[in-house]
Amino acid sequence: MAVEKRIEERLEELNRRREQGRLGGGLKRIEQQHNKGKLTARERLEFLLDPGTFQELDPFVTSWAADTEPGSRGFLGDAIVTGFGKINGRLAYVYAQDFTVLGGSLSEAVSEKICKVMDLAIKNGVPVIGLNDSGGARIQEGVVSLAGYGELFLRNTMASGVVPQISVILGPCAGGAVYSPAITDFIFMVQGLSQMYITGPDVIKAATGEVVTHETLGGAESHATMSGVAHFNFASEQECLNEVRRLLTYLPQNNMDDPPFVPSYDDPGRTDDSLTHIVPDDLVKGYNMREIINRIVDDSEFLEVHGQYAQNIIVGLARMGGFPVGIVAQQPMYLAGVLDIDASVKAARFVRFCDSFNIPIVTLVDVPGFLPGTDQEHRGIIRHGAKLIYAYAEATVPKITVLVRKAYGGAYLVMGSKHLRADVNFAWPTAEIAVMGPDGAVGVLHREELANAENPEELKAHLIQEYRQRWANPYVAAGRGYIDDVINPAETRPKIIKALEMLQNKRDSMPPKKHGNMPL
Ligand code: HXC
Repeated sequence: MAVEKRIEERLEELNRRREQGRLGGGLKRIEQQHNKGKLTARERLEFLLDPGTFQELDPFVTSWAADTEPGSRGFLGDAIVTGFGKINGRLAYVYAQDFTVLGGSLSEAVSEKICKVMDLAIKNGVPVIGLNDSGGARIQEGVVSLAGYGELFLRNTMASGVVPQISVILGPCAGGAVYSPAITDFIFMVQGLSQMYITGPDVIKAATGEVVTHETLGGAESHATMSGVAHFNFASEQECLNEVRRLLTYLPQNNMDDPPFVPSYDDPGRTDDSLTHIVPDDLVKGYNMREIINRIVDDSEFLEVHGQYAQNIIVGLARMGGFPVGIVAQQPMYLAGVLDIDASVKAARFVRFCDSFNIPIVTLVDVPGFLPGTDQEHRGIIRHGAKLIYAYAEATVPKITVLVRKAYGGAYLVMGSKHLRADVNFAWPTAEIAVMGPDGAVGVLHREELANAENPEELKAHLIQEYRQRWANPYVAAGRGYIDDVINPAETRPKIIKALEMLQNKRDSMPPKKHGNMPL
């Protein structure tokens, strides 16, 4: 009888402590968080994870500074909730910064809690999802909290290419704190709610006199459209967290796993006659590459990454015949699909992500070349364009390329050409592969002739026509085996799916090395 009572008392104490921890910074702070239109850390995790699957870790950890440093109170669990649970039935490690506790600031204890789940994630080969909402380093803990960030950067780097890492920014993310998310694979942001910057508006005003709002400086819109820091930008937290769940359906748990095959009701042998007429007869006219993508992938389901940034190139995830694939494609509707610095870096990072996690790459090409001009040259298009070459050349996952229309010069080579180890290269009959576009080539080859011609316009049109017939078609490349087959556009989907099946057991590797020296 006496023992029973004692255990009841103990259970009561456990429940009391747990309840205290669940309140984080207290009811008033929770109300403030709600009044800002934000969910609390626990509400976010509940929304993200499959119902009833969350197992919290370290709910009773407190900051060591709680008893010694003024303003640093002993909150149970400190300013973070960590643990593991399931997303779509698959294990995930998670952490959510709790803004109701000292502004979600990062103390040594907070860092140790995050490091614990990251270490578990690396050892067990499971993705890590971090929900960020924090005022940065815990001021009361000084350099110790800076060290805490250092530990995170190290873990993020160790985990890179081993397990998928996803950062969701759901509040402020200031100072060096932005660099932990920046090392991870994907950054999600929410309009009006998330901000990321290395120094806030006040510091900028003091340092340079520039006046700028939090949102303009580091809001979701700015990072999704201008800096490219954010891969995704949503209108609400709920939509954002739902998309995190969706992204994970395409990803393996770790680099030793295959990405999840999901059989589709969409017939792998489905042809589509409308593709035959999608490329306009007038070769300089644009068309929407998104439509080609939608028509060839399973159920028209395409998860576009970086959709608002460098829109001249499209990257994203889809399934074809049930196989997850990474798609890289020019968008002729935007800057004629030219490869500039931003497009090169965007695509290079995506190709490397796919290669890290065994996701085959399907490339759809319609590229007039690299963007010429002093602006691009002086900003280093040589260095940045080289990143894309490097990424494609180094990738050992199955690589399937379809030349839709233009493939000129270096841009032909970089976009998944046979010369950079692509496995299967198809071309539509509309493909034009040449050292440069007909206009430029004729200008170089016939400069004098054109200068002395009676009717230079007429002569130029004739020479362009001649050049097109000689070079700007897929048959010269197909005659050398650089193109494996010229296909009817209507058959693009079944052709790619058959190639994916054929490449299912592909094994390829790089020579042994510590790591390459990518042109960063
Ligand atoms: C300790 C902090 C804190 C911090 C906020 N708080 N940031 N406590 N360390 N870094 C506390 C506040 O004192 C306040 O507590 C509570 O959290 C809520 O903050 P508010 O300011 O009332 O909230 P809000 O008005 O929404 O403003 C949020 C904010 C602002 C924009 C994040 O708090 C802010 O500017 N904080 C400082 C941001 C910053 O500069 N951090 C350091 C970056 S440098 P009370 O109890 O008073 O209500 C850095 C170095 C990392 O992080 C380097 C890594 C390499």
